[in-house]
Amino acid sequence: MDEDINPEQVAALYRRTMSSGRARLADVLGGQVEVESSGAWITTSTGERILNVGGYGVFITGARHPVVVDEVQRQLHRHPIGTRIFLDAAAARAGELLTSVTPPGLERIHFSGSGTEAVEAAIKIARLNGRRHLVSMIGGYHGKTMGALSVTARNVFQEPFRPLLPNVSHVPFGDAEALVGVLKEHPGEACVIVEPVQGRAAW
Ligand SMILES: Cc1ncc(COP(=O)(O)O)c(C=O)c1O
Repeated sequence: MDEDINPEQVAALYRRTMSSGRARLADVLGGQVEVESSGAWITTSTGERILNVGGYGVFITGARHPVVVDEVQRQLHRHPIGTRIFLDAAAARAGELLTSVTPPGLERIHFSGSGTEAVEAAIKIARLNGRRHLVSMIGGYHGKTMGALSVTARNVFQEPFRPLLPNVSHVPFGDAEALVGVLKEHPGEACVIVEPVQGRAAW
C-alpha cells in the first residue's frame, strides 16, 4: 500500500500532460497505478498483486532477478554509459556469445535499444547492400517507427501515418507463391522481413 500515490491524481496528470488514451485504458482496467514488480508479479499502489502477462518479453528471468539486479548495479557503479568511440569488452563478449548460438550465416551482431530500432537498422543495412525493395507479410508486427511501420502490414497501425516508405510490398502470410512473385519482380533488390510467429496478428 502506497498512500503517497493518489490514482485519480496520477490519471489526471496523464490526461493533462501525456495521454488521455492511456488514462482511459487504465480507467477501464480499474484505474490502478503500478508501484513495483517482482518475478512475474506487479504490485499496485493499493497493495493489489497482479500477474504480469505483459512485460514485452524483456524480463524473461522475472522482474528484479537478483543476478540481473547485481550485474546492472555493478555496471552502473562502474561505467553507466559507453562512449561509442572506445571499444567495450562486455559488448564484444556479448556479441561472441550470441554468435556462438546463431545458425551459420548469422555471424554479425548489431545491438539496439528496441525491436523497432533493430528493424530500422536492418532496413538500412539492406539498402546499403542494394536491397531497396522491402517485402513483408500481412499481419506481421515489426514496430512503429516510420521504417518499421512501413513493413508492419496492418492498416490499423499504418493508416494514421501515411505516406510511409515507398517500395514496400505486402504478401499474405504463408503464401510462398505470392512471395516468389514479388521476388521475381525485383530480382536481387528485395529484402524480406518475416515475423515467423505472428504474435499480434489477431489484435
Ligand atoms: C516481431 C517484433 N518485431 C518488432 C517489435 C517492435 O519492438 P519494440 O516494441 O521493442 O520497438 C516487436 C514488438 O512487439 C515484435 O514482436
